[in-house]
Formats: sequence, structure tokens, C-alpha cells
Amino acid sequence: MTILVTGAAGFIGSNFVLDWVDQSTEDVISIDLLTYAGNLENLSSLNNNPHHHFIKGNIGDRDLILNLLKKYQIRAVLNFAAESHVDRSIHESKDFMETNIVGTFNLLESARSYWNDLDQNLKQDFRFLHISSDEVYGSLDLTDPPSNESDPYKPNSPYSASKAASDHLVRAWFQTYKLPVFTVNSANNYGPYQFPEKLIPLCILNALNGKPLPIYGDGQQIRDWLYVKDHCSAIREVLKQGHIGETYNVGGSNEKTNLEVVKTVCVILDKLKPKSDGKSYFDQITFVKDRPGHDRRYAIDASKLERDLGWRPQETFETGLRKTVLWYLENDAWMNHVVSGQYQDWVQKQYS
Ligand code: NAD
Ligand code: DAU
Repeated sequence: MTILVTGAAGFIGSNFVLDWVDQSTEDVISIDLLTYAGNLENLSSLNNNPHHHFIKGNIGDRDLILNLLKKYQIRAVLNFAAESHVDRSIHESKDFMETNIVGTFNLLESARSYWNDLDQNLKQDFRFLHISSDEVYGSLDLTDPPSNESDPYKPNSPYSASKAASDHLVRAWFQTYKLPVFTVNSANNYGPYQFPEKLIPLCILNALNGKPLPIYGDGQQIRDWLYVKDHCSAIREVLKQGHIGETYNVGGSNEKTNLEVVKTVCVILDKLKPKSDGKSYFDQITFVKDRPGHDRRYAIDASKLERDLGWRPQETFETGLRKTVLWYLENDAWMNHVVSGQYQDWVQKQYS
């Protein structure tokens, strides 16, 4: 059997594919449009692996997707492909609507068309797993309980609104057509191969280059942090034994303010890569203009996943963050390749 992974050259998609090839006997077809966020270097260790094939393409290309589904007799589609960066969605949201909403719609239609024509056994085994975000639940107050799967959707950014729309499409394709779907809503991921536009890799990169560590507003916004490999294991568990049509929240129970996160990165760097002048990386922390509509707090109640499927995260924030910082220190060539012209344009636009 073979699975199709979309957005496979991105941060979470590539971590998922690498883990899958390590742990499963099923082959993987990876597809990715290779936008600025897609990086084939993430998958380079699979270059000569006969159990993995990469295809450059758009999830919105129905003919391409349908042909791939048929050619490789795909038994599960995992949809990681998306425009994923909130700040970019604030500057310009067109691509977010096109990929996250229209792209997901087209992918669902390709999957439905393929699934409809499968014979009974293959039809029964087919799954469509959609990767989404805790941001769809909107911002929580400090005293609110963490978001659970039955909470209402209240997205606040163009990014989260587009993800919320895609979740609704997935739900509707189950309710209306009985397409066997799951949706996984995850907290903030961190770990290897994350593009340095996101808080943690951006701060590691800037710290090492002696640049400011930009904290939006007062830095008291809270996120729930999940090590990417724990997200991948949750997705594998849902695919294996999830209940069709259900939504599962995934979180690390690691609520931290942004300031705490950046300070912890500094503490780890001070130990692993002390500055030659004897000073701390703390000195580089700089408060900058806030993100418009900045959500104050996200927190995820992952008890359904733990109770129903027995999943637990393996990493604490401290162990996961240490591994992450070490990975970036040991993979400076990866970072140097990523920090290309397009990346510099973004930094200029956002932080100047
Ligand atoms: P990412 O931006 O690193 O990767 C997204 C990938 O999708 C890129 O490789 C990009 O080239 C590809 N892509 C974009 N448009 C495409 C299209 N039309 N067709 C095919 N490929 C396309 O994002 P990520 O952080 O790896 O996130 C993966 C998924 O997980 C997204 O759906 C995101 O919304 C969701 N998510 C991310 C986080 C997080 O903290 N990073 C948390 C929760 C949910
Ligand atoms: O919660 C899940 C979401 O997490 C995913 O759905 C998104 O795809 C993913 O990008 C992430 O969104 P955030 O906006 O939370 O991630 P980001 O790393 O951009 O920012 C994390 C927090 O840090 C947020 O409160 C904004 C703040 N921040 C971010 C940057 C880039 C700063 O203070 N300074 C910065 O320079």
C-alpha cells in the first residue's frame, strides 16, 4: 500500500515523511508545490530510497492528483500542504485562500472521485487526513479552559480563517459524501527543518548572527508548544485507529509566553554556543511593533487523543527545545541554504 503526503517538503510534512519511511513498510508519494517554504533538501536523505517518490505539483491540480491516486493505488491522503505563516497572511492573503481553501476543495474532490470508483475492500480502507491548527478556535482568556474539539470556531487572522474554512470543507465532505476523513488540529510545532520565519528558528538564527530577537508587543502572548515528532506520532495514531469523521486536537501541554520561549532559547544557546564576548544572548531581545489582531492565548486540550487512542507526547518543552537548538547548530549548512534572497526580502518587509 502507498500513502500520498501533500506539502511534503515543508516543515511538518518532511518530518512526517522521514519518520514514516523509518517506521513503516508502506511506500510514500510526496507532492509539494515548492513555494518559498518547500525545501527538497529536507527530503534529501531519501534521494535513492525506492520506497519514496517526490512529485512537484499543486494540490489544486485535480488531474495530476487523480492520476497519482490511481497510478499508485493510494490508500491514504495526508494533507499538510498550506500557506502557514500568519504574518504573511496579514501582508497578502490571496495565496492562503487559493491553497488552503480552494486547494483543499480540489484535493477533496480528487479524493472523492478516486474513492467512489474503488472496489469495496479498497474503499473501506481509504482515508483522507487533514492537518489543521489550534488557531481556528481563536484567542483564549487566561482563565479559559484549553480548547477542545467541540468548541466553536472563532478564527481571527486571514491564515486561521482559511484553515477554518478548509476544516469545514473536510467535515462537509464526510457528512455529505461519507468520504472517510479525519481532521487533526495541532498546537504550535517546533523542531528540525522549520523555516526561519517562525519564532523559534528565527530567534536561533538571529541570535547566532548577533541580530535582534524580535518580540511582538509585550511578549506575553501564550502558545502551546509541541515537538514536531510528537505531532507526527499523533497523526500516525489517528491514521491507524482514529474514528472516521472525527476531529482530534494535538498539543504538548506546554503553555509558554513568547518571552519565556525566547529566553529559554537564549539559556540553551548560552550553554551550547557561548558568545565570544562572554555576554548573554538575552541582550539581543528587542521589543517590536505588535502583530495586528495578535491572538493572546492558544491552549489545546488533547485529552480525547490520549483517552481514545492512547497517544502521549514524548518530549517536554525543555528536552524538545534542546534537541531543536542542537539540530540548528549542527545543520548550519541547511540554514545557510534556506536564508536565500526571498528570505531576505521577507525580513526586510516585516522587520524594517
Ligand atoms: P510549511 O509552510 O513549512 O509547509 C507547507 C508546505 O506546503 C510547503 O512545502 C509548501 O511548498 C507546500 N505548499 C504550499 N502550497 C501548496 C500547494 N498549493 N500545493 C502543494 N504544496 C503546497 O508549513 P508547516 O508548518 O509544515 O505546516 C504544515 C501544515 O500544518 C499546514 O497545513 C499548517 O496549517 C498546519 N499546522 C502547522 C503548525 C505549525 O506550528 N507549524 C501547527 C498546526 C498546524
Ligand atoms: O498555533 C498553530 C500555528 O502556529 C500554526 O497553525 C501556524 O501555521 C504556525 O505558523 C504557528 O502560528 P504562530 O503565529 O503562533 O507562529 P509564529 O512562530 O509566527 O509566532 C509564534 C508567536 O511568536 C506569536 O505569538 C507571534 C510571536 N512572534 C513571532 C515572530 C515571527 C514574535 O513575537 N516575533 C516574531 O518575530
